[in-house]
Amino acid sequence: MIDRNIIIELIILLFLSSHSRTCIARDTLSLNQSIVDGQTLVSSNGTFELGFFTPGNSKARYLGMWYKNLTPLTIVWVANRETPLSKNSGVLKLNENGVLVILNDTNNSIWSSNTTTKEAKNSITAQLLDTGNLVLKNGEENILWQSFDYPCDTLLPGMKLGWNLVTGLNRFESSWKSEDNPAKGDYSVSIDIRGYPQIVLKEGSVIRLRIGSWNGLGFTGYPTQPLKQTQKFEFVQTDKEVYHRYEVVDSSVVSIYKLSPSGKLRALAWTSETSDRIVIETGMEDSCDSYAMCGANSVCSMNGNVPKCECLKGYVPKFPDQWNISYWSNGCVSKNKSNCDNSYKDGFLKYNDIKLPDTSSSWYNKSMSLVECQRGCMKNCSCKAYANVDIRNGGSGCLLWFDDLVDMRMFSQWGQDLYIRVPSSDLDDVSVSGKGNKKKHIIQITFGVTISGFLTCACIIILIKRVEPRIYNLGQLFQLRQKYFKLKKEDSDLPIFDFPMIVKATSNFCSRNKLGEGGFGPVYKGTLIDGKEVAIKRNSKMSDQGLQEFKNEVLLIAKLQHRNLVKLLGCCIHKEENLLIYEYMPNRSLDYFIFDESRSKLLTWSHRSCIIDGIARGLLYLHQDSRLRIIHRDLKSSNILLDGQMNPKISDFGLARTFGGDQVEAKTRKLVGTYGYMPPEYVVHGRYSMKSDVFSFGVIVLEIISGNKITGFYDPEHSLNLVGHAWRLWIEHIPLELVDAQLLQTIRSSEILRYIHVGLLCVQEKPEDRPDMSSAILMLNGEKILSQPKSPGFYTGKDLPEAISPSSNQMSVTIFEAR
Ligand SMILES: *[C@@H]1O[C@H](CO)[C@@H](O)[C@H](O)[C@H]1NC(C)=O
Ligand SMILES: *[C@@H]1O[C@H](CO)[C@@H](O)[C@H](O)[C@H]1NC(C)=O
Ligand SMILES: *[C@@H]1O[C@H](CO)[C@@H](O)[C@H](O)[C@H]1NC(C)=O
Ligand SMILES: *[C@@H]1O[C@H](CO)[C@@H](O)[C@H](O)[C@H]1NC(C)=O
Ligand SMILES: *[C@@H]1O[C@H](CO)[C@@H](O)[C@H](O)[C@H]1NC(C)=O
Ligand SMILES: *[C@@H]1O[C@H](CO)[C@@H](O)[C@H](O)[C@H]1NC(C)=O
Ligand SMILES: *[C@@H]1O[C@H](CO)[C@@H](O)[C@H](O)[C@H]1NC(C)=O
Ligand SMILES: *[C@@H]1O[C@H](CO)[C@@H](O)[C@H](O)[C@H]1NC(C)=O
Ligand SMILES: *[C@@H]1O[C@H](CO)[C@@H](O)[C@H](O)[C@H]1NC(C)=O
Repeated sequence: MIDRNIIIELIILLFLSSHSRTCIARDTLSLNQSIVDGQTLVSSNGTFELGFFTPGNSKARYLGMWYKNLTPLTIVWVANRETPLSKNSGVLKLNENGVLVILNDTNNSIWSSNTTTKEAKNSITAQLLDTGNLVLKNGEENILWQSFDYPCDTLLPGMKLGWNLVTGLNRFESSWKSEDNPAKGDYSVSIDIRGYPQIVLKEGSVIRLRIGSWNGLGFTGYPTQPLKQTQKFEFVQTDKEVYHRYEVVDSSVVSIYKLSPSGKLRALAWTSETSDRIVIETGMEDSCDSYAMCGANSVCSMNGNVPKCECLKGYVPKFPDQWNISYWSNGCVSKNKSNCDNSYKDGFLKYNDIKLPDTSSSWYNKSMSLVECQRGCMKNCSCKAYANVDIRNGGSGCLLWFDDLVDMRMFSQWGQDLYIRVPSSDLDDVSVSGKGNKKKHIIQITFGVTISGFLTCACIIILIKRVEPRIYNLGQLFQLRQKYFKLKKEDSDLPIFDFPMIVKATSNFCSRNKLGEGGFGPVYKGTLIDGKEVAIKRNSKMSDQGLQEFKNEVLLIAKLQHRNLVKLLGCCIHKEENLLIYEYMPNRSLDYFIFDESRSKLLTWSHRSCIIDGIARGLLYLHQDSRLRIIHRDLKSSNILLDGQMNPKISDFGLARTFGGDQVEAKTRKLVGTYGYMPPEYVVHGRYSMKSDVFSFGVIVLEIISGNKITGFYDPEHSLNLVGHAWRLWIEHIPLELVDAQLLQTIRSSEILRYIHVGLLCVQEKPEDRPDMSSAILMLNGEKILSQPKSPGFYTGKDLPEAISPSSNQMSVTIFEAR
């Protein structure tokens, strides 16, 4: 009997639940209709859902909108962000006056769309559209209210960010107070319409970051726009409106911009087939992006990971003694007052690849030419600089600055040209250097970002020169350095982290925080007390390497600094455990993207070529520019991590070796490395050199282009591995068949062809035939003629010896050196 009752009850419950589900799957409310907590509106094609939810650890209920089939729950809009409901009793109703209201359990309105209309109300409806816009309309045309006009922390495709100048409506993104509280937080992203419009991220009323002004192609502070291939940016400026909007070009890749409670503007992108997402920090790539990092009239540039400020020509530090200790925020002042009575004596100096200064006090005219612009600036004594408004078609329009020039930075590419006014006395200074054109007083100076070795590295090279050439491992090198400089461990600037702090950061190495298994041990994600996200590598079993050596090694690796090498933040030694703390890479590693059918869609050709270029630069730094001459020896796609901008970072230096003096090659009897990425001379004779890394680099290039794994790939007809397959297609003159199908729409086939060509040159059988990294970079840039590649090493899958030990699990492996 009991059983039967339960069954009947179950059937009724099932019926009810399925019944109510079909009942509420609608997208529209008509007059007097409502939904209660638990019911939702769903847009017609099922993309968005609107209903009541509870954020994070809060207990309050809010009416919000989210992507229906996306995990984790991604809230894109909240109605009653300032007036939460305390119980699950909220009702969303289109009331008899045609106003959308949220009622609490005493039938009081706690939020309303706050609209009035004098027209007949019977045909007013509220509809959730497939774009994520909740619209209140009277008939089809007459929109009374829409959620797109009241953004919260998320910018969706098609949403306008900016101003309706007629009504004064300002649509801006504002952060949540915290993950648990959607109320308006401290941060906002908006369009500043003083002067020429620009997008700014503010904390309260203070600007923290400028995405900058529109130049026809993009925003001056955000030239890379990593999602360029899948999004189209638009900027509209008329008498009635000023707004920015973006559309998704490839509808299989969805992307949104979210402003986090801590003020980070991030693009999230995912494909329709999977909810794995890439996270891209927008606009904030390095310290130079912080607003007015260098104060007024000075330009920020990155030197490795370190920002550096330089006064504009004709300006000097306001407080030289502060400036000398890298305290830059007071900026620079002009050295000589420009001589206005004799204004033709002033000239202009062109800076390339610049983020244009703050335009809030600028003046502009979109129809003036650059020549008129210069004349205009020359005429007015207080004009400090000029530039084109629009850089398309050779440039047009005129932007003038009359105040201090604030928040400029140098980009390595894609920046804009800025012409600054300089008194003739200072121009003469420059012309001495031979580049000036005295007649017109327009002189061009081009800045490039230089990567220089660090002082310590420079010291070490001196050290190496003094002793006989031999191979050092990093630990020995550090010991030598210690002896030479009588350094104590404590003198090192690598922070030592407290173990309890790490335990706290990872919630006691909770499996939820595990990111994966590295060559060294498990890797965990951690959040430090200040909110900084880190990756923590844990090695609980002490290797046969001594503790001291571990420390030393770590201390040395900490000195390697380059934007394409992963940055070590610190270490921690606790009983039997060695822990390394690295910067956290939100986009994991290269293999995670290129070998996955749907995730690889997110990696367009421009991403992939940038990634290849970045790996090449990182490797060049290791081989040459760091002056230490380091061979990585375990380069593979899973060791290439991707940061918030999808920049590649070489990681895992566990097997790295240092060469001293004129050493070019070494020999070992113990093979370490990873199957498929090791060159023949190493596998067969145990010989390794810089050219071993070049071989591995070539394999990675082919993997990135083809989307296939070197180890997983198999050509059924010819029993070839990926390298062999690429080589066969090359000699059969059909190399483009190697290219990942995802990239086929790309029009840059000649560029892809060049990359394949370079890849094949790098995997040639004889090390001496392979280019070194500096030539490889020139070749990738198309600045060096490419020779015909000879046949590669190891291409018939079969010719690899069986007994190759895979990548070792130790931090470093002792090898038997034959000298
Ligand atoms: C809505 O409700 C009001 C008051 O309850 C009633 O006067 C009106 O006729 C209703 N309208 C519709 C379209 O049902
Ligand atoms: C709120 O309104 C609903 C529907 O009009 C009614 O059934 C309910 O009794 C009202 N509750 C209160 C507390 O007034
Ligand atoms: C409902 O909202 C009204 C107006 O904001 C408020 O005075 C009342 O206390 C609320 N009722 C409950 C149960 O929260
Ligand atoms: C909407 O509400 C705000 C305050 O919440 C008020 O200032 C504004 O006048 C209202 N607008 C309309 C159209 O009622
Ligand atoms: C739903 O409609 C939106 C907007 O038209 C479109 O971008 C999206 O691809 C559609 N989604 C599905 C699953 O059809
Ligand atoms: C600042 O440093 C430069 C060179 O390093 C030096 O010439 C100058 O005298 C210093 N100025 C002050 C105020 O310390
Ligand atoms: C400009 O400054 C330099 C050095 O600061 C000085 O020698 C020169 O006389 C000044 N020129 C004018 C026109 O003031
Ligand atoms: C902008 O420049 C053009 C060409 O020099 C000129 O005809 C026009 O009047 C200018 N407009 C404004 C608003 O100054
Ligand atoms: C120079 O420009 C400023 C700012 O637009 C203006 O206030 C000033 O009157 C101008 N001076 C001359 C001489 O045109």
